[in-house]
Amino acid sequence: MAEFNIVEQIGEPLRRNGYVSFSRAANDTLSIRKIGDYLECNVTHYSFLKPRISTARQNSLSNVYGIGEFPAHSDGAHLVNPPDYLIMRGSRSRKAPTLLWPSGKLLEALGSAANNAEFAVNRGGRTFGARFCTVAAGGLRLRFNHDTMKPKNQSAATIHSWLREPTIAPVVIDWETTSLLVVDNRTVLHGRGRSEEHDAGFLRRWTLRKR
Ligand SMILES: [Fe+2]
Repeated sequence: MAEFNIVEQIGEPLRRNGYVSFSRAANDTLSIRKIGDYLECNVTHYSFLKPRISTARQNSLSNVYGIGEFPAHSDGAHLVNPPDYLIMRGSRSRKAPTLLWPSGKLLEALGSAANNAEFAVNRGGRTFGARFCTVAAGGLRLRFNHDTMKPKNQSAATIHSWLREPTIAPVVIDWETTSLLVVDNRTVLHGRGRSEEHDAGFLRRWTLRKR
């Protein structure tokens, strides 16, 4: 098998599409640390995720939605500095797919509302103001969570209700055939398809932030 080229096989597709996924056979040599080093990021958090309500943390999406669909969101939207990337490894038996909405189609569908939307973000009782979409030196950043962000203007209200049920089809990551997924949390919103009550499949998730 040809040697793994991290620039060609992770860097370029990630820049182009905002995500990159690998099938089960292809990623055996890829370590989370190697990917983090390449992205110039540190791992800031690790979670072992199973689709059930009982072990879910308070305020987590599992607690709100249980085994139902998780709506489109960015991870850590309630944080002043949300993570830059997410890496997920899923078990073959995981029934619930991961859903992705990359910025290109999203921003096209949302039009000018995307640039004007202002939200009040709830962080454990305290609130701070944040935009849905910002462009800074580091590039584009989208921030959204239906439950922790409340609209402050009409553009935000439009986005808040549209993202509850987006009318554009997501990219569907099926964990039966995919074992590794890297997502740019700044430019791609993600969600989860509906799970089943006895879905034993799990997902390991690492969040990464630029050094
Ligand atoms: Fe998430």
